[in-house]
Amino acid sequence: MLRTHTCGELRITHVGQTVTISGWVQGMRDKGSLLWIDLRDRYGITQVTIETENAPKEIIDIARSLGREFVVSVTGKVAARYSKSDKIATGDIEITPDKISILNSAITPPFTIEDDTDGGDDIRMKYRYLDLRRNSVRKNLELRHRMAIETRNYLDKLNFLEVETPVLIKSTPEGARDFVVPSRMNQGEFYALPQSPQTFKQLLMVGGFDRYYQIVKCFRDEDLRADRQPEFTQIDCEMAFVEQEDILNTFEGLVKHLFKSVKNVDIPELSRMTYADAMKYYGNDKPDIRFEMKFVELNDVVKGKDFKVFNDAGLVVGICAKGAAEYTRKQLDELTEFVKRPQIGATGLVYARYNADGTIKSSVDKFYNEEQLKKWAAAFNAQPGDLMLILAGDENKTRKALSELRLEMGTRLGLRDKNKFACHWVIDFPLLEYNDEANRWHAMHHPFTSPKPEDISFLETDPGKVRANAYDMVINGVEVGGGSIRIFNKDLQAKMFGLLGFSKEDAQAQFGFLMNAFEFGAPPHGGIAFGFDRLCSLFGGAEVIRDFIAFPKNNSGRDVMIDSPSPIAKEQLDELGVTVNVK
Ligand code: AMO
Repeated sequence: MLRTHTCGELRITHVGQTVTISGWVQGMRDKGSLLWIDLRDRYGITQVTIETENAPKEIIDIARSLGREFVVSVTGKVAARYSKSDKIATGDIEITPDKISILNSAITPPFTIEDDTDGGDDIRMKYRYLDLRRNSVRKNLELRHRMAIETRNYLDKLNFLEVETPVLIKSTPEGARDFVVPSRMNQGEFYALPQSPQTFKQLLMVGGFDRYYQIVKCFRDEDLRADRQPEFTQIDCEMAFVEQEDILNTFEGLVKHLFKSVKNVDIPELSRMTYADAMKYYGNDKPDIRFEMKFVELNDVVKGKDFKVFNDAGLVVGICAKGAAEYTRKQLDELTEFVKRPQIGATGLVYARYNADGTIKSSVDKFYNEEQLKKWAAAFNAQPGDLMLILAGDENKTRKALSELRLEMGTRLGLRDKNKFACHWVIDFPLLEYNDEANRWHAMHHPFTSPKPEDISFLETDPGKVRANAYDMVINGVEVGGGSIRIFNKDLQAKMFGLLGFSKEDAQAQFGFLMNAFEFGAPPHGGIAFGFDRLCSLFGGAEVIRDFIAFPKNNSGRDVMIDSPSPIAKEQLDELGVTVNVK
């Protein structure tokens, strides 16, 4: 037997028992008269202690030959420790070995396998199997497992069926590029990997499945960020015979269940914010509402003086940072630099300090006297001690830049506690957005999303005004999920494709299967998909989803461990009928 117990299991109650444990050598200390080996497995660390005066020579020799990460099995008696440790769960005991077997040796690992490792990202990814031995990574994957189990528990109780949909499909437009797979049997033709199972889950509704879910891999060839991977996982769901309200309630329930069962956190009823308000008050369709700091529009208050920047601006808008009036010149310069970064794009920052003594000093005192600044303060509802931060310029750009500044101030003022969770819905998204480059309308969510019935009449006259039955769930400023009520009528779906610039023939060629299905009695339906990796990282208090994926890709979309993507042999290409021009 290679083990009777794990390395995290033994307690004072086991003292006197003979046990066998197996694991990796975390570390070794040799004090001459005493030798200690720390043995680690998934469950913890157990200390093996050898008194060199009493132990057989063979055991001492083996112990002294061990190196870090050797795989070892130890049989011996559990003894109470002389000096106990409260740092580890097995800290009351140690093992006095009768036998040590080396199951495998190990070369020196390229980084230390400890909580605080000396390994940088690249090296840890190249040796991900070693990184996985670290507590922090293991804990993240244990959390992921628990989240998946609890998701299944909740949905199963509500009669949802988990159904697998194919991975070799044809393109589904979700706004990103497809990964494609050449077909050997159909030369010159390609499968696409699903950006989501969207059309299949809708077809399951036509097929009478009523309530579907799947914890499923999705593939999107898009620029990568901390919260984006080229292959990621969704909790993908669809329901028939429902309206938006039913979906919001069902999945609010899922998130509450996950918080309660996984983190023992009670989440209050989720508030709802329209897209229009999210943009107006936060400049962002996924506002972090752990803190207030809403936008205040100042056009009426500040225009008409000699300050050209404000007079020429489409929008003058600001935020009030509570208690930040004492920000130093250096801190304010930093904020100005922050908003001027190309990614943020503001041309400058105007500030006004509402000092504790009631005076107001601004960076544009030349143009605005104290009386006028008092009007600013009134607009912001500012109190002595507050700092007003103002941006001006083109409306959309300025909102976007101020949104970044708001988040930065939230962080600087400690208002974004990762142990606090603010969950809410953003609803009433526009159905379409105009893409200036392509010179046509795009579906803001996806082309299967239904317009609000009361807005359908604008489809022809003013498409930008049409609101969709679409919703996102936002937690702490992260879009964790999104969905919509779907179109289930062939003519409306055809009209939608027309608006999106598809010819009748193209729409039929690409989506004929769905529109045809709608002719065979499609029920009203709708659904949602959660970004499972994002949910896990939020629950784990992290921003980078990579740490919650066992074998993730790096920021260039590479798996540096298996070195993929990589070229393939000419014979394989020939067989596939694919010609590659390598530059
Ligand atoms: P959507 O495109 O909004 O909707 O995706 C749903 C959720 O998936 C997560 N997500 C990602 N996570 C990690 N890496 C990525 N590259 C990535 N892209 C998206 C986000 C997002 O909210 N079929 C529709 C859902 C529906 O209408 O039911 C869809 O896929 O958290």
